[in-house]
Amino acid sequence: MVIRKFIIAGNWKMNMTPTEAEKLVKELKETCNRKDVDVVFCVPAIDLLPVRLLVDGTNIFVGAENMYSEDKGAYTGEISAPMLVDSGISFVILGHSERREYFHETNQDINKKVLKAFEYNITPIMCVGESLAQREEGITLHWIREQVKEGLEGVTKEQVASMVIAYEPIWAIGTGKTATTEQAQEICKAIRDYVAELYDQDTADTLRIQYGGSVNGKNAAELFAQPDIDGGLVGGASLKPEFAEIVNFDA
Ligand code: PGA
Repeated sequence: MVIRKFIIAGNWKMNMTPTEAEKLVKELKETCNRKDVDVVFCVPAIDLLPVRLLVDGTNIFVGAENMYSEDKGAYTGEISAPMLVDSGISFVILGHSERREYFHETNQDINKKVLKAFEYNITPIMCVGESLAQREEGITLHWIREQVKEGLEGVTKEQVASMVIAYEPIWAIGTGKTATTEQAQEICKAIRDYVAELYDQDTADTLRIQYGGSVNGKNAAELFAQPDIDGGLVGGASLKPEFAEIVNFDA
């Protein structure tokens, strides 16, 4: 049986000026420094380097919230994989539902970014998830399978085994409405089963799958106790000292 290491990532979104970031990270780096769990602070581009310097010497990783799929060039406003690598950034969130919705990123765009991240040895955290309308229509699984399949086009099984997929039901993000543990486990398992179908069981068993959507200090332990949930992608609660309660759940 494969033992998967838990991974808990904070997604700061468009919050925290460099000054605010410094204050928060100085506190969290003491309380979130856990060796048996991968802890990642995913922060806005302007905070990446200062935060990375602040967590030097701890077990905490720093991740970006997005990146572009080209190495360099005339893409005003974008940041590239080589820029992240040069700044000591080891993870990148790709395909977050807010990127899909507000910036019209498609599965194909996200796939290009996933491939680029692997080219530079950056671990992608690829987000998938359904809207409330899709859930009510009963097409959740169909939708998520499509996101997984198209997002992973051309990705090798070794790469899939090393990456992270975050299941984030859109209706649970920032709403305080967490999916029930049963709902979260059901979809995380379905994603794993589908990866087994696309690749093989070993690959699926090694892949880490997070749940995201209103994770907090109170519900984290129960969610992470589910057999197919290997940690969380945490928005709102990652901006507060409470993030330490999530990170320090009873593994
Ligand atoms: P939330 O956000 O924890 O604030 O619901 C999660 C996310 O969007 O990654």
